[in-house]
Amino acid sequence: MSASGDRRAAPPEAASAGGLDRPHPTSAIAIQASGLSAGYGGREVLQDVSLTLHDGEILCLIGHNGAGKSTLLRVLFGLHRPSAGRIAVFGQTLANHAPAALGAAGVALVPEGRGVFPDLTVEEIFGLALWSAGVPKSGQRERIEEVLEVLPRIKEFRTRRAGTLSGGQQQMVSIGRALLTRPRALLTDEPSIGLAPKLFQDLIRPIAELRRSRGMAILLVEQNVREAFAVSDRVLVMRSGRFIFEGAPSELDDHARLMELF
Ligand SMILES: Nc1ncnc2c1ncn2[C@@H]1O[C@H](COP(=O)(O)OP(=O)(O)O)[C@@H](O)[C@H]1O
Ligand SMILES: [Mg+2]
Repeated sequence: MSASGDRRAAPPEAASAGGLDRPHPTSAIAIQASGLSAGYGGREVLQDVSLTLHDGEILCLIGHNGAGKSTLLRVLFGLHRPSAGRIAVFGQTLANHAPAALGAAGVALVPEGRGVFPDLTVEEIFGLALWSAGVPKSGQRERIEEVLEVLPRIKEFRTRRAGTLSGGQQQMVSIGRALLTRPRALLTDEPSIGLAPKLFQDLIRPIAELRRSRGMAILLVEQNVREAFAVSDRVLVMRSGRFIFEGAPSELDDHARLMELF
């Protein structure tokens, strides 16, 4: 089935709540992918996958282990080359669909696993991210302050080496690092893996808040279905490299129905 989604996210309330927020047309599309196929060494993993991520929506992607969720995110972020298909980002097809160009276009990825450098302090990790995003020194402080507003608990451990932090803290750093680039679309790959549900809420609530306050588009790959559905507008279910369901989270309230899809 197609997953191109007629259901639009509700207009972000914060647009009218004023202040710093840019106006964002609710009809805008953050990421549009069509006919994507991809695999490894000739084995096809994604098969003719199409997906639309609207501006200001939280789209939850679930599916069994090995379904192809991470592969899809890597393809969207230009880390893995598809064998077929097209991807447009905020209405543009990038000449070179590579991570640096995606970053510049306003897309950030929080990869699977925490991906933090264990020997660096949180501040050093942030410094490195700002440097690689080409943010001038003069603007770096403001970026960090912004992130600490969203994830204030990072203040408690910003001078510690990442390797000494708990899983939840490392995941917070990983998300914080992605937010430093001021993305308009955020792709997150199982941020809650290995975390207690309560910790997941500490991570996901601030992200959901960004959607409200900044109209950010979020593609959330999750196994922690109950918690993820609570903040999502739309759900996609992937099985063996294809989408087999698209709909509102409420349509999967029935546990039996959800299990059928897994
Ligand atoms: N780097 C890789 N090389 C070869 N096969 C891979 C690689 N990454 C993933 N795969 C395979 O692709 C399939 C989909 O994996 P993945 O996208 O990680 O699924 P998911 O994130 O849904 O668990 C799996 O069969 C996996 O073994
Ligand atoms: Mg995965």
